[in-house]
Amino acid sequence: MARILITSALPYINGIKHLGNLAGSQLPADVYARFHRARGDEVMLICATDEHGTPAELAAAAAGQDVRAYCDEQHALQRDVGEKFGLSWDWFGRSSSPENRALTQEFAEVLEDHGLIEERVDRMIYSNADRRFLPDRYVEGTCPVCSHRPARGDQCDNCGSLLDPIDLIEPYSAISGSTDLEVRDTRHLYLLQTKLADKIRAWVDSRTDFPALTRSIALKHLDEGLIDRGITRDLAWGVPVARDGKPRPGFENKVFYVWFDAPIEYIAATQEWASAAPGRDWARWWRGAEAADVRYVEFMGKDNVAFHTVSFPATLIGVNEEQRADGAWTVTKNAPWKLVDQLKSLNWLNWYGGKFSTSGKRGVFMDAALEIQPPDVWRWYLTANAPESADSAFTWEQFQNLVNKDLADVLGNFVNRIVKFAETRFDGAVPAGGLPGELELKLYAELSTRLADLTQQMEAIEIRKSALALRSIWVLGNEYLTEAAPWTALKTDRDRAAVIVRTGLNLVALFARLAGPFIPFTAEVIASAVGESEAGVWPSADGRAELNRLEPGRPVAAPPVLFKKIEDADVADWTARFGGAET
Ligand code: 2FM
Ligand code: ZN
Repeated sequence: MARILITSALPYINGIKHLGNLAGSQLPADVYARFHRARGDEVMLICATDEHGTPAELAAAAAGQDVRAYCDEQHALQRDVGEKFGLSWDWFGRSSSPENRALTQEFAEVLEDHGLIEERVDRMIYSNADRRFLPDRYVEGTCPVCSHRPARGDQCDNCGSLLDPIDLIEPYSAISGSTDLEVRDTRHLYLLQTKLADKIRAWVDSRTDFPALTRSIALKHLDEGLIDRGITRDLAWGVPVARDGKPRPGFENKVFYVWFDAPIEYIAATQEWASAAPGRDWARWWRGAEAADVRYVEFMGKDNVAFHTVSFPATLIGVNEEQRADGAWTVTKNAPWKLVDQLKSLNWLNWYGGKFSTSGKRGVFMDAALEIQPPDVWRWYLTANAPESADSAFTWEQFQNLVNKDLADVLGNFVNRIVKFAETRFDGAVPAGGLPGELELKLYAELSTRLADLTQQMEAIEIRKSALALRSIWVLGNEYLTEAAPWTALKTDRDRAAVIVRTGLNLVALFARLAGPFIPFTAEVIASAVGESEAGVWPSADGRAELNRLEPGRPVAAPPVLFKKIEDADVADWTARFGGAET
């Protein structure tokens, strides 16, 4: 039994996420977690809301709410909708937790003790009207690169340039709109990434099995040259800058930068999980020799890769190791924290030609999606179209086509056809009698090959190829049933029909087990149609054994229609409601 630690990028707290976010990190992480659980591995699937920084403060202000109350409410909403999508987190934490505050402060202390943090004076925009500094998105203005207005202080949405607020032309406060701004000196903590650059590159070089997308982003970042990074901000909401449990002098009104504390929450969320019930041990997932046999896999969209291949490793390596006076590095007395073993990054799922956008309310959001289709329908579409090798685009037409073909015609129809037939012609039980013939032997052989392929794609975290491999097994079952034609055989040879129906029912049971990671709700319904208590056991690659599991006499009962076809009228409705090709 292997131990697999899985994290998916933490969604910002500022509102329910869109389908692009689900497709790009949370859903693939869940599919992978379910696969490993089904294989009998011990899995820890961690996610959390990313609650600090300007996105949270600004969204709370826009909602007219106190930021803590806003986060409480939004966290509950995101957890609820995630659970409805079947995201099977072991823990869905909060980066504003006491655990994360303590661990973030502890890491900063250790980094400082290791000579990797220093105080520097920065020039930042101060608003006289708001009587505060305006970091990151608190200031807007004209982009110095493309002249787009408004561009945000940290980034221009139009040209994508990363900006420094003081470079904006004709800046104004995003809070009050005031242009009465000045540049003032302010002290901040800097993480000296330049001292760690060689170590980080050596580590990235050692991760030869990182996917091409992950590696190329990491190397591009390293090649551009690492700079020391400001890890504090003049904000009230966040992890306070403290040392030895006391506010750091001169930093009373400052907090850690959101991108410093957010990834630390992966660990802290596991601590939250441990705090929630007795007998849970978080350290065996994250620290030292106890965690040495854990395989740690991260899932995220490509925009998060640099933070996870450079910034977060910089934090962890800097905590784990210390440079001696002679330049050599030694591992510190605290057993080292686990760095990621595999980093699965995904491209964008786009909304037609453009981007989904949380702030721009463009596309379909997770709550609205569930108002029009059940979770498994979305799960299937979003995995079969996972934006892996390139960006992929959502369109209603493709959604309709894929759902109707794969789910309604291929899977749903197969299950219904064979179980109904067993109900009406074989007294609603797995039939006895007869011996497998040529068609079955051919099926066993072909199935064995395809099962091995599917398992291999799942192990390799090739989500889209896995979905393709799964669909090909469903198609194989349909082809078998059409060729074997039990309805014809029954007229002349009941034993032959019995073999076919028994094989068909075993295929149903197999489909349920294979579909579990992708469409868990439906997998349970399919499993129970053939008297299986659970869908979640991953099959072997032995086609013959897998198709001879159900004992004759076991009762079966056809489930209600598994998937309702999507009509053109539905597409027209949804296009009117959410937008689409014509809009
Ligand atoms: O880009 C985002 O949505 C960030 N909230 C991801 C954070 S991932 C982790 F580091 F916390
Ligand atoms: Zn621009």
